[in-house]
Amino acid sequence: MITSPVATRVVNTERQHVKRLAQMQRVIYPTLTDEELLSAEHFLRHLTLFPEGQFTALAHVHDKWVVAGSTSTFRIHWDALHKQHTFLEITDGGWFDHHTPDGEWLYGGDLSVHPDFRGLGLGSRLYDARRDLVRRLNLRGEVAGGMLPGYDRHRHHLSIEAYVRRVVAGELRDPTLSVQLKNGFVVKGILYDHITDPRADNCATLIVRENPYYNRVSA
Ligand SMILES: CC(C)(COP(=O)(O)OP(=O)(O)OC[C@H]1O[C@@H](n2cnc3c(N)ncnc32)[C@H](O)[C@@H]1OP(=O)(O)O)[C@@H](O)C(=O)NCCC(=O)NCCS
Repeated sequence: MITSPVATRVVNTERQHVKRLAQMQRVIYPTLTDEELLSAEHFLRHLTLFPEGQFTALAHVHDKWVVAGSTSTFRIHWDALHKQHTFLEITDGGWFDHHTPDGEWLYGGDLSVHPDFRGLGLGSRLYDARRDLVRRLNLRGEVAGGMLPGYDRHRHHLSIEAYVRRVVAGELRDPTLSVQLKNGFVVKGILYDHITDPRADNCATLIVRENPYYNRVSA
């Protein structure tokens, strides 16, 4: 865990980053099955399909820039049919084959920061990079499935729906959802059986962040 101030930056993901990004997945997502983790081949495919939608967070430690986190996205046409979906369905097994070059929504397939580099603002900077991209491309906004790692501590007295309501109300803090709310996302519902995470009974939130500058005329 880094405690002293450290320089950080967010760049478009490059081929040289993907090996480390793939290595970090198991540490970041301890509950996921092998099938749900992104490999170096997955990251390379994302770069081929939609390079401008892939970002890596770097931290400057011991005179070197090291990979600390990333976000992987693709474009889709969003409709009610997609409201309930699993992570593997929507990401096409992590390959992002659903990427639609004229899709008007950005789907966040992954956004994560290595535990050693959390609390430095990198998660928020990665969300900033996505927001800037959405505005630049004049998209309607972003959609994602968000994990709920903090539910485990409250399961004995709250349903998952009540837990999410209390995190949204600011009465409880979830390590993931609270960061997303702070970054302007809104919860639209619960995704049941979304991803392997016994801490949240495999549930996730359906979160949306609309682009207030979306211009239908020039889209
Ligand atoms: C969610 C995640 C990306 C956040 O990354 P991060 O780099 O730690 O996020 P940030 O440093 O930008 O933190 C955001 C805010 O939460 C606050 N925060 C972080 N940990 C906190 C804590 N334990 N208590 C209170 N606030 C906390 C930070 O202070 C920051 O607020 P600030 O900007 O007012 O200082 C990271 O925890 C992660 O990778 N989790 C696992 C994967 C995951 O859940 N991804 C999300 C998509 S499903």
